[in-house]
Amino acid sequence: MSFQEAESVNGNVRQLVDRFGREHTSLRVSVTDACNIRCRYCMPETVSGFLPQHRLLRFESIARVVRVLVNAGVKKVRLTGGEPLMRPNLSELVKRLSGISGLRQIAMTTNGMLLADQIAGLVQAGLTHINLSLDTLREPAFHEISRREGLNRVLEGIEAAVSSPLNVRINALLLRDVNLEDCLPLIHYARKLGVVIRFIEFMPLDANRAWNHSQVVSGLEVRRMVEAEFGPLMASTSSDASQPSRDYFFPDGVGGIGFISPVSEPFCSTCNRLRLTADGKFRNCLFGREEWDLKGLIEPADGLVECSEEDIFGLAKACVDKKYAAHGISESGFQPPERAMYQIGG
Ligand code: 5AD
Ligand code: SF4
Repeated sequence: MSFQEAESVNGNVRQLVDRFGREHTSLRVSVTDACNIRCRYCMPETVSGFLPQHRLLRFESIARVVRVLVNAGVKKVRLTGGEPLMRPNLSELVKRLSGISGLRQIAMTTNGMLLADQIAGLVQAGLTHINLSLDTLREPAFHEISRREGLNRVLEGIEAAVSSPLNVRINALLLRDVNLEDCLPLIHYARKLGVVIRFIEFMPLDANRAWNHSQVVSGLEVRRMVEAEFGPLMASTSSDASQPSRDYFFPDGVGGIGFISPVSEPFCSTCNRLRLTADGKFRNCLFGREEWDLKGLIEPADGLVECSEEDIFGLAKACVDKKYAAHGISESGFQPPERAMYQIGG
């Protein structure tokens, strides 16, 4: 019996609902841990090696799991990395995903460096949304943050995205001692492009374990700086409660701004996200310490036993069932996960 038949026979629509009633409608899929830059809030300066090709979940497996999870209520997939555009032929995966009916959004989070070259293929394949990371407009600060050069390429990527049919957002992360001064210039830049910019608080997910509360610039602090410059922000009524971002309009209606504040205002109670790492492990939280091995199930080494859709759903459900109520970053005894952001998927 197929998964859909099993559903209709017992009339039980299987959804990814956890112990706290949170429905999981968003899947974040990391397609590689490799990256072409080395942001200090994410990666170590030198990496001993990225996952070899054979350890990555294959596109056909990703498409298969997405199809099963869309039947279980997932509406949105976000492709992440490392840097997702480092995975060869990514538009082929996007194309496979765009053939899945019921999937409403195919989004990507990228640093933009390779975007100008790849955007036409991605759009054609069916990508709908793109988030670009941009923390500064100054090349020296870009170098200090990412330990690489190439701000120009990022800006070219952003401009290519803005002239495409994609829904575009800019994500910025401020580190108090590095790029606090970039806050207002970044906003002016985003407004000039007519794009929403969102500020993400620095989370304890850096490979160096250098995270410290004193480096976190809270959403509230950014908001105060912004209001001093532009006047009072107006809350966007279209904000979706399951979205981590609190969104606002500027008084003149140009552009938009959002705050993602996982450290100062955790949004765990409305979290609707399930994650899949590049090596094919389900995770129920960025900060989780447990993983569920999908790759071993869907691509068994002996190649003999084909797993069923029911097995795939069962593994995702087992993962969701173990999700905690909250991440506890600010509690004493908090331990960051073993893997850093680039290995989990941003
Ligand atoms: N805290 C918050 N956000 C992070 N990102 C990477 N590392 C961290 C961290 N430690 C975000 C980047 C980028 C996305 C891929 O993940 O800002 O926008
Ligand atoms: Fe690469 Fe993104 Fe990590 Fe920066 S935050 S090093 S762009 S994976």
